[in-house]
Amino acid sequence: MSTEPSTFPRNLVECQAAARERLPHPVYEYYARGAEDEVTLEGNTRAFGDVHFRPRVLVDVSEVDLSCTLFGERLPSPVLLAPTAFQRLCHPEGEVATARGAGRRGHLMVASTMATTRIEEIAAHAAGPLWLQLYVFRTRSLTEDLVRRAVEVGCRAICLTVDVPVAGNREHDARNHFTLGDEVEIANFAGYVQSRLPEQDRDSGLAAFIREEFDPSLTWESVAWLRRLGNLPVVVKGIQHPADAEQAVEAGADAIVVSNHGGRQLDGAEPTIRLLPDVVAAVKGRIPVLMDGGIRRGTDVAKALCLGARAVLVGRPYLWGLTLGGSAGVSHVLDTLDAELQRAMALLGAVRLTELGPDCLAPIPRRH
Ligand code: FNR
Ligand code: LAC
Repeated sequence: MSTEPSTFPRNLVECQAAARERLPHPVYEYYARGAEDEVTLEGNTRAFGDVHFRPRVLVDVSEVDLSCTLFGERLPSPVLLAPTAFQRLCHPEGEVATARGAGRRGHLMVASTMATTRIEEIAAHAAGPLWLQLYVFRTRSLTEDLVRRAVEVGCRAICLTVDVPVAGNREHDARNHFTLGDEVEIANFAGYVQSRLPEQDRDSGLAAFIREEFDPSLTWESVAWLRRLGNLPVVVKGIQHPADAEQAVEAGADAIVVSNHGGRQLDGAEPTIRLLPDVVAAVKGRIPVLMDGGIRRGTDVAKALCLGARAVLVGRPYLWGLTLGGSAGVSHVLDTLDAELQRAMALLGAVRLTELGPDCLAPIPRRH
């Protein structure tokens, strides 16, 4: 059942509350919750509150342009869809609905390795640009095949996620024995044992899967290996230290995503909006810096761009939209964020994304 667009909640926080009512408890907790005490999960959102605007007035803001360029491609908005696993748990059309909802106005979608729809089928429904997010498996041939398939279907970049050498301690998933059931599978590996999550007595099936399948020995060499393999830009997702940002540039990354995996991995990690300026300073403009984590308002997007992000990714919010109304729900979430960003820019006196900079912000108090 899908909700008519006019009845969608007004903002992203209300979308979450409405989606919670609809979802089975273990699925809601898998999507919404974070690692251990959720200090990082909560910090990601809360830290935006410590960033304050200093708006300019009497600027002609009758036209505000949200378009953004990434790897030479023009995007309608700096809001990208972060890779999220298992989307058919919240809507029968899963990733296909997300691809349609994102593509309606050309938003860029990053499809997860752990999707419940094959990358070929996602690509067939993606009107906007598509990247493949990659988890590197111990069985390297599986990963290599997936990259080749992504190239074949026209993915524009490979997004290598580097913050899951082991699973974060997600106690809710362990308590719920989180698994996929019989209805859905990790579709990219259909026909292989890797298409299922193992059933666990005391643990999350996903945690067991990560232990068995993800390669914890991955190092910086993988960036060059991947570039050779796919001949596509490689975006390294999960950078949390300025020194690693520097190392990513040296390793040949084409872009990085400052991310703590939405507070699902190392609890106690610094909120990404707080870390972003130090990473931007380390990168010195050599490659685009993207960020994700805790973005729930257009003003959050504006703050990230003011602090040097080229674009941002959102994860959970579009899953709530997908739950509430399939592709229309995904579009609703993206339209809401873009409309909020556009309004924020008008109120800031900025008509292009490139005008968002430190000048639009109050100085951030020094921490040390
Ligand atoms: C994720 N994330 C994620 N990242 C990734 O690289 N591959 C993946 O398969 C997944 N899967 C996934 C599932 C779910 C349910 C969530 C919530 C997140 C992390 C995601 O890409 C992103 O970093 C965070 O979601 C960003 O934080 P917000 O926007 O959810 O606060
Ligand atoms: C997650 C993994 C699949 O965060 O990335 O659930």
